Amino acid sequence: MSYPYQIKSAAQYQDAYKKSKEDPEGFWSEVAEGFYWRKKWDKVLDWNFSEPKTEWFKGAKLNITENCIDRHLEKMGDKPAIIWEPNNPEERTRVVTYNRLHKRVCQFAQVLKNNGVKKGDRVCIYMGMVPELAYAVLGCARIGAIHSVIFGGFSAQSIADRLYDANAEFIVTCDGAYRGNKDIPLKSVIDDALIGNRTVKKVIVYTRTRTPVSMIKGRDVWWEDEMEHAEHQVEQEGKVTFPAEEMDAEDPLFILYTSGSTGKPKGVVHSCAGYMVYTAYSFVNVFQYEPGDIHFCTADIGWITGHSYILYGPLAAGATTMMFEGIPTWPDAGRFWDIIDKYKVNILYTAPTAIRSLMGFGLGHVHGHKLDSLKVLGTVGEPINQEAWNWYDENIGKGKCPIVDTWWQTETGGILISNMAGITPAKATYATLPLPGVDPMLVDENGKEIEGNNVSGNLCIRHPWPSIIRTTYGDHERCRLNYFSAYPELYFTGDGAYRDEEGNYRITGRVDDVLNVSGHRLGTAEVENAINMHAGVVESAVVGYPHDIKGQGVYAYVIFEHVHGDENLTRQDILQTVTRVIGPIAKPDKIQFVPGLPKTRSGKIMRRILRKIAEGEMENLGDTSTLLDPGVVDEIKKGKL
Ligand code: PRX
Repeated sequence: MSYPYQIKSAAQYQDAYKKSKEDPEGFWSEVAEGFYWRKKWDKVLDWNFSEPKTEWFKGAKLNITENCIDRHLEKMGDKPAIIWEPNNPEERTRVVTYNRLHKRVCQFAQVLKNNGVKKGDRVCIYMGMVPELAYAVLGCARIGAIHSVIFGGFSAQSIADRLYDANAEFIVTCDGAYRGNKDIPLKSVIDDALIGNRTVKKVIVYTRTRTPVSMIKGRDVWWEDEMEHAEHQVEQEGKVTFPAEEMDAEDPLFILYTSGSTGKPKGVVHSCAGYMVYTAYSFVNVFQYEPGDIHFCTADIGWITGHSYILYGPLAAGATTMMFEGIPTWPDAGRFWDIIDKYKVNILYTAPTAIRSLMGFGLGHVHGHKLDSLKVLGTVGEPINQEAWNWYDENIGKGKCPIVDTWWQTETGGILISNMAGITPAKATYATLPLPGVDPMLVDENGKEIEGNNVSGNLCIRHPWPSIIRTTYGDHERCRLNYFSAYPELYFTGDGAYRDEEGNYRITGRVDDVLNVSGHRLGTAEVENAINMHAGVVESAVVGYPHDIKGQGVYAYVIFEHVHGDENLTRQDILQTVTRVIGPIAKPDKIQFVPGLPKTRSGKIMRRILRKIAEGEMENLGDTSTLLDPGVVDEIKKGKL
């Protein structure tokens, strides 16, 4: 397989960029020729950012699984599509060829059908990183059901909220999941999430850990039984078929919940055609994937990175993609390097937080590994600091692998700003240049464009690209308000950026109330809501502060009614509450009890002051005279943790 849309030189990049700007529709229709369509589009693009409305490849008919699986079968049926590395390195690995993937996805699509799932229904998937998760996701796509994958670290309450928001009727889960030395009882979390739920009709449970689970009659069924039954239905005379549902280009493909500046996570909706085209295009170009390469993205499929660069992008490109069930530090901090040598991985795509954490374990875990199969390294999710970049470059890439620093978001569906491995130059700590088809700009607070070089501003995008967010599920106005209203006729990313003398972008971080903890997004309001659920909490304010490994840590200032005994026990109670409401990923790193919060006379919390104190900056707090009670600032400073 070759990729008609692959850019192979810096000159081609320049040409493609120019073309994409002058004639975006011509540019994208050429890229889209590299895919299989049941029917081609009538119109490449119809859009306005004021509603917003974005329709790519309008009128086209397709099914993304025919692009990710069926069209590869003839020439690459026996080629590995997914290589799965279990949590326990002693356990057998699994290699899923394209033929096998086809069979399993057809079977699972049949299971869904047998259980009453129809096109457009919402299916929540809450599983560990096992190949069956890929079958579940793709099985949904095959019948046109909308999947909503929820990361295994979210609590029952978070799941319940997401089930309710999406009005989901079906769940696919596992009895449990292995992560390092822990077994996580996923099905039991689902059972808690379903207390009081009125919409879910069926729960399909895959056996992974064989931890005891309660199976409710009429509602819960075993994956294995269902798959066995479906096998006979999809297989005739040795041939497997399950006709893929014909989807409209703009039919929704999935919902993925992400945090914003309000307390409630948003269901970001991506559609079939645009998402498919953009993820494959960006995958091939950023990583410069060559047929035969083994691509290892270490993300979890519960996040957008896993959706786009473990599953859809690589599979649409007929690549071999790795799925790793475990964590980078178990059984020891050499796990990634073991995997790379074991499978001769060519592309490693991970997060700065993982790099920093592994750095902390010392080079002893890297030594003894060859790592000579590696050609390209990538990072995603948060800004990478110079020290981590150098460590990655020298010790993992041995100075000969280009590092792609890929900037993007759940809402963008795919990588928007990044160098292309070996094609356009890397610059440490910079995401560098936009991909052809992406038109970024910087604006000041009033929405005025900041032109020129060596300038900073808020990062916006001028023109839609195919995998732009279509809506927030069930609430289109929320989508408009969040992304398209701060600056008229622009998509606002929520990030700040600096542009250097050569036009390279360096992402400086969020400019809204969103934290980025270990590359995961958390809304400050969301964490505050969770803390405030604790019976003794009067009020709280949450800010981020620089954290050596996580990038940002969560610092909570809490007004507590009456601390029962030991302060530390009360802290534990609050952490427990946050774990229950959101999940362990949202636990504050520091909780400081305060007598009050710095508020303006109109009652607004002055977060700027709290942020500075959390960062350890005790002087230059700016003008505090407008505060209702300026004295409270000194009290907070005294109690700083
Ligand atoms: O602040 C940016 C940061 O992560 C945010 C998006 O988070 P999420 O939707 O969870 O997606 C993460 C994976 C795509 C962005 O608004 N971010 C992402 N990539 C980078 C980054 N910050 C700096 N450099 C990056 N390469």
